[in-house]
Amino acid sequence: MAALPALPRKYHAASIWLLYAAGLLPAAYGFWLGATGRLPGNPVKEFEHLLGLWALRFLIATLSITPLRDLLGINWIRYRRALGLLAFWYVLMHFTTYMVLDQYLNFPAILADIAKRPFITIGMAAFLMLIPLALTSNNWSIRRLGPRWVKLHRLVYVIAAAGALHFAMSVKVVGLEPWTYIVLVALLLGYRLIRPTLRGGKRRKPEGAGLRGGQVRSAQAGSP
Ligand code: HEM
Repeated sequence: MAALPALPRKYHAASIWLLYAAGLLPAAYGFWLGATGRLPGNPVKEFEHLLGLWALRFLIATLSITPLRDLLGINWIRYRRALGLLAFWYVLMHFTTYMVLDQYLNFPAILADIAKRPFITIGMAAFLMLIPLALTSNNWSIRRLGPRWVKLHRLVYVIAAAGALHFAMSVKVVGLEPWTYIVLVALLLGYRLIRPTLRGGKRRKPEGAGLRGGQVRSAQAGSP
C-alpha cells in the first residue's frame, strides 16, 4: 500500500496542538448552541449526549492508532496522547454536565444514581479508570513507570468497552448508532487480542521494555 506523504518533522508539534484545538470544537459549538437556545428538545440532555458521544469517538480514535500503523502503515502515534486526553476531557465535561446541569449538584441523588442505575455505575467506573491514565499521560510518568506504564495504559481497552456498554444501556432501544460503537470497540479489542499472534516473533520483548533508558518514544510507540 502506498505510504501517505510524511508530515515534515518541524510541523509535528503544531499539528498536535491543532488536533487539541480542533478536538475541542464540538464541545465549544455544542455549548454555544445550548447557550443561544439552538439545541433542540432538552438542551441539557442534548449537550450531555454530545459530550458522551465525542468521548467515545476519541477513545475509539485512540485505540485505532496501533492497528492503523500495523495494518496500513499509517504512523500517527504522535497523535495518540492528544486523542486519549481529548477523550478524558470529554468524559470530564460529560460528567460535569451531568452533575451540575442535570442533577444541580444534588449529591445524594447523584450517589443514588451511581449506585442504583447500572449504566451510570459503569460510566462512573470508566471515568475513574481514565483518571490515572490522564494523569500519567506525560513523558515524566512514562520514564518513571517504565514497563508498568504500558500495562497501566492497557486499561483503555476496558474503559472503551465500558463506555460502549454504558451507551448501549443508556438507550431504550439499542439501534444502529450504539451498535456501531459496540462493533468498533469489539473489533479493536479483538485486534488487540490477536495482535501478538499476527505479529508472530516480530517482538519477543514485553512491550515497553527499554523504557528505563528514558526511551519515551518507544513507550509511545508500544500498545495500546
Ligand atoms: C468513559 C466514560 C463515559 C463515556 C464514554 C460515556 C458516553 C456516553 C454516551 C455515548 C452516552 C449516550 C449519548 C446519546 O444517547 O447520544 C452517554 C449517556 C449518558 N451518560 Fe455517559 N459516558 C461516560 C461516563 C459517564 C459518567 C461518569 C456519568 C455520570 C456519572 C455518565 C452519565 C450519563 C448520562 C446521565 C447519560 C444520559 C442518559 C439519558 O439519556 O438520560 N456518563 N454517555
